[in-house]
Amino acid sequence: MMNGSCISYVTPADEALQTLRDAAQAGAVTLASSFSVEDMVLTDLIDRHGLAIGIFTLDTGRLPEETYALMQAARRRYRTPVAVYAPQAAALEPYIAAHGPNGFYDSIDLRQSCCAIRKVEPLKRALAGKQGWVTGLRRQHSPTRRDLPLREWDEGNAMHKFNPLAAWSNEEVWAYVKANDVPYNALHDRGFASIGCAPCTRAITVGEDIRAGRWWWENPDTKECGLHPAQADRKAS
Ligand code: ADX
Ligand code: SF4
Repeated sequence: MMNGSCISYVTPADEALQTLRDAAQAGAVTLASSFSVEDMVLTDLIDRHGLAIGIFTLDTGRLPEETYALMQAARRRYRTPVAVYAPQAAALEPYIAAHGPNGFYDSIDLRQSCCAIRKVEPLKRALAGKQGWVTGLRRQHSPTRRDLPLREWDEGNAMHKFNPLAAWSNEEVWAYVKANDVPYNALHDRGFASIGCAPCTRAITVGEDIRAGRWWWENPDTKECGLHPAQADRKAS
């Protein structure tokens, strides 16, 4: 207390936990987990504090083997089951017939339509009937995320969206992982910073942005897969 005003220090972990508690109060709320290091921190917090937040993942069918290994390890470590949503064969089969299994390299349109089939449509099913969702997004990830709030109104899905780690630095994420022995993707120890589908993810070199290895052939200002709107479309919650 100084000069009648109260100075309080909130740690990143306190802030994330409070945001998760707010999320749990908002009704049926679920964590979208890609088994990223951020999603593992959130899974650990949810499990450790027994929060009423479900977890789902979008299994695109093209994930690296190391992500499946982590999925298996997380089943052993944490109590909260992870619901798995897969792409619909009725959409995937014609796409592959028309463009081949790796058609997404041929144009941005084809890349986005692959993400629409393998991620965005399954996301709609995962969020159906929910009042909110939680993500592992952070401001440090990319220019498209630099103004990310802790919570927002997700117009596209008509529900609350919580980003408890929005303000966390890379160092804070890894400090939490080490301190709590949180399982993480083995690819991180081989130069991968942000991990998505195997054919669209590569390792980065020193000095490159965190998401430089995602869709590395595209412009960093536009590369989102459709799960998260551009910041111009964001609304406060
Ligand atoms: S992406 O839009 O470029 O793929 P990114 O990999 O940075 O997103 O992950 C940001 C957040 O989006 C994750 O922390 C997670 O909440 C959600 N997310 C991304 N991919 C998936 C997935 N396959 N399954 C579930 N959630 C996902
Ligand atoms: Fe398809 Fe690549 Fe998008 Fe995965 S990240 S859904 S493989 S385009």
